[in-house]
Amino acid sequence: RANKKALFLEIYKKAARYYYYSLNQRENEHALNYFYQRGISQEVIKHFGLGYAPADYNIFYRMMKQEGYEDEDLVESGLFIKSKSKGVVFDRFSDRVMFPIFNINKKVVAFGGRILGEGQPKYLNSPESLLFDKSRTLYGLHIARQEKHPYYILVEGYMDVIAMHVAGFTQTVASLGTAFTEGHARLLKRHTEQVVILYDSDGAGKKAALRAIPILRSQGIQVKVLQLEDSKDPDEFLKKHGADEMRKLLEEAESHVWFRIKEIESQYHLDLPDERVKFLQEIAKLLGNLESSIEQNIYTKEIAMKYQVSLDALEAEIKKYFVAKQ
Ligand code: GTP
Ligand code: MN
Ligand code: MN
Ligand code: MN
Ligand code: MN
Repeated sequence: RANKKALFLEIYKKAARYYYYSLNQRENEHALNYFYQRGISQEVIKHFGLGYAPADYNIFYRMMKQEGYEDEDLVESGLFIKSKSKGVVFDRFSDRVMFPIFNINKKVVAFGGRILGEGQPKYLNSPESLLFDKSRTLYGLHIARQEKHPYYILVEGYMDVIAMHVAGFTQTVASLGTAFTEGHARLLKRHTEQVVILYDSDGAGKKAALRAIPILRSQGIQVKVLQLEDSKDPDEFLKKHGADEMRKLLEEAESHVWFRIKEIESQYHLDLPDERVKFLQEIAKLLGNLESSIEQNIYTKEIAMKYQVSLDALEAEIKKYFVAKQ
């Protein structure tokens, strides 16, 4: 098994080199131009080891065969696929720009590949393997962990991580295409006490943030949320507004509690008494389930003031949920 790991590491390293080399070949200029058009320079390409998997369906496979690798190993690595009908082996990634995924020891353990234009799937990730556990891998962490940071930033995508790093926010990481898991939270906890969630501004991004919050909180990580107003994701925001505006927004990021409260508030008409009651009951439930009692105490006071309900009444309501939890 140890040998197998070493073999796979070797295969991924060869793959990363091959994709990187291919990106800079004359006949693949369109791929290089894709990166350039997205503001990714040669320097950034090198920093993240970006590449291109050529359109030819088995060009990388032929190269690896020439180097003496066995079909079985190649297929098991996840970078090649064996057709069920004819048993022919071909490259998993073809005509895609490639993002190597590194483990914390800076070894390539997987790849993400993006289609150059529109089309499905937009991103293709290599499958989980002996070396790649999606729910324990964060893109960008191999760089982020090299320095101490007061907080980490959690984004959705490869391009967001890259754009944030280029803008100087080298503490940015992403869980790749998969939902944020407890494994990710544990991993982050080893490196930081605080995380700012900076997901896409669409409904999916908001939902994903609401799901990630309790997972991070359960590891004792402080959580803030930053929602972008006029851009769909951090990459787009940075192109529009630049790093200084991003820095300002990050400094003003709100606590996860306010983010959740706003979310609940948007579901009720607070000027109607019945709805106000339901709203406050739901807020009480949220407060009762907060992971920290200090947090609970502080927000209970603030909310009683903000929504003009007596502290006693709110506390009594919270107790119901608090007791239910014991
Ligand atoms: P760009 O369009 O290149 O800027 O990508 P994006 O990161 O903004 O894409 P999006 O917000 O749609 O998705 C966020 C992340 O989810 C991506 O970076 C991928 O990691 C993942 N993802 C997106 N689309 C797919 C898909 O079709 N399949 C898989 N497996 N993952 C995807
Ligand atoms: Mn999205
Ligand atoms: Mn996005
Ligand atoms: Mn994007
Ligand atoms: Mn601006």
